[in-house]
Amino acid sequence: MLIPWLLLGVAKDCFAKIYEDVSDLPGLEHDFIIVGAGAAGNVVANRLTENPNFSALVLEAGVSNEGVIDAIVPFFYANLIAGPNIYEWNYTTTPQVGLNNRSVPYSRAHMLGGCTSHNGMVYTRGSAEDYDRWADVTKDPGWSWDSLLPYFFKNEKWTTPADNHDTRGEFNPAVHSTHGINSVSLSGSRWPVFENQVIQTTREFPEEFPFNLDYNSGEPLGVGWIQSTIGGGKRSSSATSYLGPQYIQRPNLHVLLHAQVSRLLGPQTTKGVVTFGGVEFSQGGSLFTAKASKEIILSAGSVGTPAILLNSGVGDKNALTALGITSVLDLPSVGQNATEQPLTFASWSVNSTQTIDPIEQNATLFDEVYAQWNASHTGPFTNLWATHIAWTRLDASSPIFENVTDPAAGPKTPHIEILVGTGSQSGDEPTGNFISFTMVVLTPTSRGSITLQSNNPFDPPLIDPGTLVTDFDRFATRESIKKAYRFVEAPVWKDYIIAPTVNLLNMSTDALDEFIRNNSSPAAHMVSTAAMSAKDASYGVVNPDLLVKGASGLRIIDASIIPFMPSAHTQAPTYVVAERGADLIKEKWK
Ligand SMILES: Cc1cc2nc3c(=O)[nH]c(=O)nc-3n(C[C@H](O)[C@H](O)[C@H](O)COP(=O)(O)OP(=O)(O)OC[C@H]3O[C@@H](n4cnc5c(N)ncnc54)[C@H](O)[C@@H]3O)c2cc1C
Ligand SMILES: *[C@@H]1O[C@H](CO)[C@@H](O)[C@H](O)[C@H]1NC(C)=O
Ligand SMILES: *[C@@H]1O[C@H](CO)[C@@H](O)[C@H](O)[C@H]1NC(C)=O
Ligand SMILES: *[C@@H]1O[C@H](CO)[C@@H](O)[C@H](O)[C@H]1NC(C)=O
Ligand SMILES: *[C@@H]1O[C@H](CO)[C@@H](O)[C@H](O)[C@H]1NC(C)=O
Ligand SMILES: *[C@@H]1O[C@H](CO)[C@@H](O)[C@H](O)[C@H]1NC(C)=O
Ligand SMILES: *[C@@H]1O[C@H](CO)[C@@H](O)[C@H](O)[C@H]1NC(C)=O
Ligand SMILES: *[C@@H]1O[C@H](CO)[C@@H](O)[C@H](O)[C@H]1NC(C)=O
Ligand SMILES: *[C@@H]1O[C@H](CO)[C@@H](O)[C@H](O)[C@H]1NC(C)=O
Ligand SMILES: *[C@@H]1O[C@H](CO)[C@@H](O)[C@H](O)[C@H]1NC(C)=O
Ligand SMILES: *[C@@H]1O[C@H](CO)[C@@H](O)[C@H](O)[C@H]1NC(C)=O
Repeated sequence: MLIPWLLLGVAKDCFAKIYEDVSDLPGLEHDFIIVGAGAAGNVVANRLTENPNFSALVLEAGVSNEGVIDAIVPFFYANLIAGPNIYEWNYTTTPQVGLNNRSVPYSRAHMLGGCTSHNGMVYTRGSAEDYDRWADVTKDPGWSWDSLLPYFFKNEKWTTPADNHDTRGEFNPAVHSTHGINSVSLSGSRWPVFENQVIQTTREFPEEFPFNLDYNSGEPLGVGWIQSTIGGGKRSSSATSYLGPQYIQRPNLHVLLHAQVSRLLGPQTTKGVVTFGGVEFSQGGSLFTAKASKEIILSAGSVGTPAILLNSGVGDKNALTALGITSVLDLPSVGQNATEQPLTFASWSVNSTQTIDPIEQNATLFDEVYAQWNASHTGPFTNLWATHIAWTRLDASSPIFENVTDPAAGPKTPHIEILVGTGSQSGDEPTGNFISFTMVVLTPTSRGSITLQSNNPFDPPLIDPGTLVTDFDRFATRESIKKAYRFVEAPVWKDYIIAPTVNLLNMSTDALDEFIRNNSSPAAHMVSTAAMSAKDASYGVVNPDLLVKGASGLRIIDASIIPFMPSAHTQAPTYVVAERGADLIKEKWK
């Protein structure tokens, strides 16, 4: 569709930009309507509008990221996700049986860039085997590691760290790209004493914790230097990168903020295939409709996308009918199979002053470090606390494998991740020096769900991440704690560690399980709530081309389509889904 204002493009509103008010938009009909400006949505918007003949409108419920200091200074990450705030959807989970029936916060960003504007910035791809499994279950070799590597490279812009240090021996340039869009870098400031402890551990325990030059090579096992979506000492989000100045000025790219999509409208069924006439959204208490002449693309994330589908009558027919929602397309997998990783912490007090604690404990020092960041975007505020990641497998002889098939995608895929760094776990110990580890079960077998509580599309959905409901996940969490303690049994830690802040090592299994239930939480990495499956599968929500099964002109491109949790944090996997998804759309409409 060629839109007249594109040709006439003279008035100031004719140039693409980020709009706050629907009345400023140059029209509500476009070739593509993209719902959600998160990791995936902004990639799709950017790539589609490379073709000047395509116009795209992105509808984002949240607020602007512009000038939000906590979303710019990497170290301030925790401020953004602490408690209800204007950058959050403020969700809580349903009571989690695996967490002593606690309902816990479930963080989702309500801002441009989605969760890439407030996430931990850890850049991890997962194993080659993870993606080869995607290709296997979908019967589409296009989802294999080898096929996706060019898309990782389209996304990634490998960048010099903020301190310009010599990075030789800290990564493998052959598996990175300097020509992508989203910045990735090694840490921009150093903790030499602690870093030496970690590297020495890889020498002392080379069997259990070998050094891995680059955990993003497709073979992550071992201990490697952390890589983060940070460039020039600042967070690189999908908003700062894919909607950067050189892109957002495109006359065919439009982004509307404060626009919460409620549902898809005007379903029409022809020969059993549903087409939707538009997208309903709310702004300032009024409802509007946006129309797509080519495709509607849902990129609202693993919580938002299934919620919109269910509110539109796309989901399990019986469940929707019970809520008073007219069933349009009976797809029982919508919102099911939610897969989320549990995480647990451990920390130790240490005999070293070279940790981040003094910065958090001493306001004068904090201001000095902040002033350094302000002046030159260098110093300790250019990254988070972690310096390395250890990726490890459960022992092959673990008794759990008598009962459970190994959920990892293959023998080179880790079950457990341990992020290691300095600083107390809470960040608010009044005195002392600490190191903290975060342990993640990468391959959970628990499954949860996203469902609706009512037929009001503005009610928050019911979020059940299913945290720690299976024996495997509880076993792997206990093992992750044991592995973390094993790491610091390397001789090099002897005079360095004073004591664990809570001694988890010699606890009974029951006591450890109780500790885990009280202290673990979901990692905010949910996937699979609108999962991709083979074209002929009896389950699933989208086909391998990401078109919704049984619908036409409706695609899903975000973390919800991921068919199996990768052994990773989920932004890089989502970016790669979006890069390939955009290519699939371009292929269709070329
Ligand atoms: C606290 C936290 C820390 C994390 N840390 C890391 C990390 O360190 N490394 C990593 O790799 N991953 C991390 N992740 C996960 C990663 O950020 C996500 O997996 C990724 O952003 C998912 O991308 P997405 O496009 O599917 O969804 P999102 O990035 O969540 O984007 C969805 C967008 O859609 C919008 N939206 C939702 N519903 C509607 C609606 N109805 N109408 C209009 N707009 C809507 C949302 O506001 C949001 O902007 C973290 C996540 C969180 C929450
Ligand atoms: C855009 O449309 C014009 C006119 O139809 C065509 O010549 C051109 O090739 C198109 N551009 C792209 C990138 O498809
Ligand atoms: C989350 O809570 C904050 C503080 O109460 C509020 O300002 C914000 O609007 C809430 N977010 C949403 C999406 O309602
Ligand atoms: C948690 O809730 C379930 C279901 O309501 C109940 O059976 C169980 O006893 C509760 N567990 C605890 C520890 O309270
Ligand atoms: C969940 O995923 C599995 C494959 O991992 C599949 O067999 C099952 O049918 C799915 N369930 C639903 C409800 O989609
Ligand atoms: C800390 O290290 C110093 C110097 O190595 C040593 O003298 C001291 O005993 C250590 N303190 C503790 C509590 O281990
Ligand atoms: C706090 O930091 C300032 C600035 O570095 C330093 O001069 C001061 O001694 C520190 N205070 C304490 C109690 O360590
Ligand atoms: C750094 O800059 C921010 C934002 O401009 C400002 O709020 C803050 O006070 C500055 N801090 C220091 C220590 O310079
Ligand atoms: C395996 O299953 C059996 C029977 O349910 C159970 O007794 C045993 O504890 C399980 N083993 C592990 C390691 O969970
Ligand atoms: C755990 O118990 C063993 C054996 O009793 C003991 O040697 C070890 O020091 C204990 N570890 C911790 C961290 O308490
Ligand atoms: C776990 O939490 C429950 C409920 O708050 C509490 O009664 C119990 O003492 C806690 N257990 C441990 C080991 O912290």
